[in-house]
Amino acid sequence: MTLEKLVNYAKLTGYIYQGSEIYGGLANTWDYGPLGSLLKNNIRDAWIKRFVTESPYNVLLDSSILLNKRIWEASGHLGGFVDPLTECRGCQNRFRADKLINDFDPSVNADSLSYEELYDYLLNNKIKCPNCGKLEWTEIRRFNLMFKTHQGPIEDTSNEIFLRPETAQGIFVNFKNILRTTRRKIPFGVCQIGKAFRNEITPGNFIFRTREFEQMEQEFFCEPGTEMEWFDYWLNEMKNFLYDLGIKKEHIDLHEHGKEELSHYSNKTIDILYKYPWGFDELWGIASRTNFDLSSHQEHSGEAMEYLDPETNDKYIPYVVEPSLGLNRLLLAILFESYAEEILEEGTERIVLKIHPYLAPHKVAILPLIRKKHNDKAEEIFKQLSKHFSVTTDVTQTIGRRYRRQDQVGTPYCLTIDDQTLEDNTVTLRDRDTMEQIRISLDEVVSYINKKIAF
Ligand code: GAP
Repeated sequence: MTLEKLVNYAKLTGYIYQGSEIYGGLANTWDYGPLGSLLKNNIRDAWIKRFVTESPYNVLLDSSILLNKRIWEASGHLGGFVDPLTECRGCQNRFRADKLINDFDPSVNADSLSYEELYDYLLNNKIKCPNCGKLEWTEIRRFNLMFKTHQGPIEDTSNEIFLRPETAQGIFVNFKNILRTTRRKIPFGVCQIGKAFRNEITPGNFIFRTREFEQMEQEFFCEPGTEMEWFDYWLNEMKNFLYDLGIKKEHIDLHEHGKEELSHYSNKTIDILYKYPWGFDELWGIASRTNFDLSSHQEHSGEAMEYLDPETNDKYIPYVVEPSLGLNRLLLAILFESYAEEILEEGTERIVLKIHPYLAPHKVAILPLIRKKHNDKAEEIFKQLSKHFSVTTDVTQTIGRRYRRQDQVGTPYCLTIDDQTLEDNTVTLRDRDTMEQIRISLDEVVSYINKKIAF
């Protein structure tokens, strides 16, 4: 499976389109089509189900994308959310110096090098511009990744604001609100799904690295000294979530950050990597963030962020363990994991998306065998089943073609209506993966499918 093949597949089927396509596109923007947006929603639902509604620890939040500028001073983003930028004097293209070095030699720990050292490394190793092949780099400068805009009609620094580069800070600044209104005791966590924006210097690999993306983050507040136990607990939960969604164990690897790689707020960070076609790359990170964020917000806002333990009367600023997942990166991993090309017994080929049924955009495709005779029944069944799960109807071309079309987009069941259906209210249900068919009474279809799609 190649990235190019998947991009074509996604476009052809209506999972993902190029953004602004009729105007020639806007680089690295992608629109989720009818199937892609349902899949995205189902991934969100699975994450909320596992980490919020089924969790005894966590609650959900939906905070604003636009936040008070002082939040970004406190979090360190205004000062330090930067990448090392260099420009090729030959073609004026801009690159991340650390990426250029790691593409040249993946074993170099580019994060540990100063800007001067990065520059010297580029020149000493004669690393040329990937675009024009010249060796004419400018000195490296800090490039802040936050998107800047203005609130209100006047464009000056007094009303400068930023699109959030992570959802996490919206959680930290609501810590006291959530504590007060939910009467939770530590340990507890807050989960949030939402858009984040980073003016990446080198976006790419389809939806893997984009400037607008969606995060599913959890900030887990715990007593200082217990954070490493919780770190292990959540890391295990994260891996199980991926395995339960059908990601194979051999396609997952872990990367623990060395000292030089750790962010200023973290005393331990592990990335869960997925085996994308270009190699293992970051899917989900878990960081022990100490009490950096709450302490910093306490200092900058003047609001106390301490927690009073009702049993011991101890007062402390909680420590935080943060699993942070990119929704788009998980969706991409799921597409790679599920896409298969099979040669069938009769020698024909089929493309099949063996996606977990819970995630499949549609659970059942309703196929009236002969349109004129069976369409009324199909409409009746659509009304009945669509109250329970997402269904689609496919009426054109032969039944074999229709099966292939549904296999290709991952619909786990095809329900065929024929003459017998009109007589005894039974239908044929075909399984996407085994292609086996059973005859089943319509009264049993909802409970049968519900069992099969459970997560
Ligand atoms: N609050 C912590 C945080 O934001 P991060 O490692 O910068 O940590 C977390 O981002 C996750 O967000 C990453 O593991 C990745 O899945 C996703 N992510 C980050 N930048 C992204 C981008 N430009 N495009 C798509 N996903 C991105």
